[in-house]
Amino acid sequence: GVIRRYDFTISRGVIAPDGYQRDVLLVNGAFPGPTIEANWGDTIQVKVTNNITAPEEGTAVHWHGFFQKGTPWYDGVPSISQCPIAPGKSFTYQFQADVYGSTWYHSHYSAQYAGGLFGPLVVYGPRTEKYDIDVGPVLLSDWYHAEYYDLVQEVMSPAGPGIVFSDNNLINGKNNFNCSTKPAGDNTPCTNNAGLAKFKFQRGKVHRLRLINSGAEALQRFSIDGHKMRVIANDFVSVEPYDTDVVTLGIGQRTDVLVKADGKLDAYWMRANISTICGLTRQPFAKAAIYYNGANQNKEPTSVPTNPPDPGTCVNDDLALTKPKVKMPLPKADKVLTLDIELFQNETGHTLFSFGGVAFRGNMNSPTLLLADLGNTTFDPIWNVQNTGNAKSVRVVVNNNSPIPHPMHLHGFDMYVLNEGPGAWDGSIVRASNPQRRDVIQVRGSGHVVIQFDAASNPGVWPFHCHIAWHVSAGLLTQFLTNPAQVEKMRVPNTVAETCRQWGAWTKTNIPEQ
Ligand code: C2O
Repeated sequence: GVIRRYDFTISRGVIAPDGYQRDVLLVNGAFPGPTIEANWGDTIQVKVTNNITAPEEGTAVHWHGFFQKGTPWYDGVPSISQCPIAPGKSFTYQFQADVYGSTWYHSHYSAQYAGGLFGPLVVYGPRTEKYDIDVGPVLLSDWYHAEYYDLVQEVMSPAGPGIVFSDNNLINGKNNFNCSTKPAGDNTPCTNNAGLAKFKFQRGKVHRLRLINSGAEALQRFSIDGHKMRVIANDFVSVEPYDTDVVTLGIGQRTDVLVKADGKLDAYWMRANISTICGLTRQPFAKAAIYYNGANQNKEPTSVPTNPPDPGTCVNDDLALTKPKVKMPLPKADKVLTLDIELFQNETGHTLFSFGGVAFRGNMNSPTLLLADLGNTTFDPIWNVQNTGNAKSVRVVVNNNSPIPHPMHLHGFDMYVLNEGPGAWDGSIVRASNPQRRDVIQVRGSGHVVIQFDAASNPGVWPFHCHIAWHVSAGLLTQFLTNPAQVEKMRVPNTVAETCRQWGAWTKTNIPEQ
């Protein structure tokens, strides 16, 4: 494979993606960040420089969905795999494109990605289905006009609901905003009709769209007026194709669809609707225009919605439908964990989540992986580390005792998804001969999801968390230390410990945001 090199400088900038001006975190001056492209088997190298000022803060970038086999220190998670990149400093990530398909990269420092620090990442691999044109990434993101750290505070505020309202919904970083709906006394500059994203279709051809939920909280329901979509992959896992009118994506999830341009009109709307039953928003609707060849691109499409009504269950497609192309039978589990999600108020009255009895709180000066590499296997209980020892395959029963649905994401692995549903698990497994696999799965409010992963095959420290930006800050994270004997033998590059020296020096004179 080839080395794909990128240089990312993270900075602050004042922009107005939907017309409402705000402070956004930019990658090389852009929102969303530039697309990373590689072929399956290549090495991706990204030098990230933290140029965030006024105020300064740390950062770290996570490459969502990669296994990072043999390189757990490049997973990009402060408190777990590295120290934050200190202001003014750089850190170079280098990892294998060991999977192919569509994904995104995003900051894993606090809720920074809700402040704009994310972008698409495409790994080209074998075509499991035929198509003519790769339309590329379609990023769906709920959008907030407030600063991410204020939103984290709001979520955790005493007697808070554990959730906040988004202000808008974007497709590839664009949408209009009705400035007259600004709250009274808000003098932020705002322009109506900021503009929508535009896509081109060739009549009669089959197009591949790479749908990515790169938002902070909301579940998206994506559709195209007058067109069916053929699902070919969920996250990094190619599936036996199935047709649908609507694709449901929780935060972090991707779905690749094929769409044939066989409509009667020459322009159509694509729509991403935030499920208002599964999240809070002041404006749930995002639109982008699709123009067939020859259409007048200055005219708005006139198509009407053909998507079915929201069922309000906040779940992904039926597990029976989502059958992986590459068959992997469910191995025997040699360890079973039951982890409950609870919403509670702590002794100071703050709203937090516990996961398996602990509300996670990390130590940004002391990443778990570095301690595990030195041979430590027990940690501060508040870090919520589960040592899975040499267990080959670990099953996790997640009981969501909160009324809020959560997109549950495991780093380092594709999870086998054994079952999902309301209430408690009845012990049954959907298609044990070849279960659905993916790296984020929705658990409904007051429901369960059961997953399994081949722990020992990938030594490291791997977070398993809700992908709603503020829920990690509020404690909804556990970390699996897998195969500690092998972790101890690994040689962590010096640059990782260097992040801690630099971060330690910076925090001596500065107090980081949590
Ligand atoms: Cu896409 Cu832990 O994150």
